[in-house]
Amino acid sequence: DAAATKAPETPKKMAVPDAQTVTAVQHWTDRLFSFRVTRPASLRFRSGEFVMIGLMQTDAKTGREKPLLRAYSIASPSWDEELEFYSIKVPDGPLTSRLQHIQPGDEIILRPKPVGTLVHDALLPGKRIWFFATGTGIAPFASLLRDPQTYEDYDEVILTHTCREVGELEYGKQLIEEIRSDEMLAELIGEGFHEKLRYYPTTTREESPKMGRITDLMRSGQAFEDLGVSPLDPAVDRAMICGNLAFNLELKEMFEEYGLEEGANSDPKHYVVEKAFLD
Ligand code: A2P
Repeated sequence: DAAATKAPETPKKMAVPDAQTVTAVQHWTDRLFSFRVTRPASLRFRSGEFVMIGLMQTDAKTGREKPLLRAYSIASPSWDEELEFYSIKVPDGPLTSRLQHIQPGDEIILRPKPVGTLVHDALLPGKRIWFFATGTGIAPFASLLRDPQTYEDYDEVILTHTCREVGELEYGKQLIEEIRSDEMLAELIGEGFHEKLRYYPTTTREESPKMGRITDLMRSGQAFEDLGVSPLDPAVDRAMICGNLAFNLELKEMFEEYGLEEGANSDPKHYVVEKAFLD
């Protein structure tokens, strides 16, 4: 009788709860990497949402193993069999100093409860959608840019990505190339997206074709001129923001000046914001 069996002695190493297996790891720069893990069969999520992921760690006081978790945007589209994440490596970050060493076959913790505000449901219908990202803030947009709904709902889709250095743009650059050239993906996300998708990468600390913070490039009008579009207008434009805190706050302030209002799942409006994960 299983129920009557005495519980085994507490093992030294606890099994990983909500374990998923790493299937691939790619290092982009000495500060950035992406990885893929198996997807729980029951996990449904909306493009743009995040989940808590992490590793077991030993509590210094009790010596017990416990989960160390952080919020990570799912970078893969909801139709993908696996889950993809894009992460910074912080040398002394509690999680990423260890997470950056994962290998295919390793297990990570993945709490199967997706949530977040960067979802289509939090926006009113519009003509053009902007995705504003810095650094790893591109992750939720990597999901949204591979979601058919993004192209069904809007006539134009603009991704801006501001990074310090050119190498940090590579993940986004390859994502856009893949979306534009992969026929299977094209079939999945639907006809006509080629003409709709625009990409506006900029760097701030290394020479590249377009330099400067997107905020400054918008204030000067340069970004709108380069893209051939009018400044943001609540009648036309919708936006999602995901970057570092200062970036999010600055853009929010600019949006309010343009007359855009912040939305939520329960109260869709013109734009939504989420902070990119920093260990
Ligand atoms: P900068 O190099 O001028 O600080 P980080 O790696 O620190 O998170 O920054 C990612 C990118 O976001 C960098 O290119 C950085 O530019 C830019 N950035 C930081 N703060 C802001 C802000 N308030 N508005 C716009 N861009 C910002």
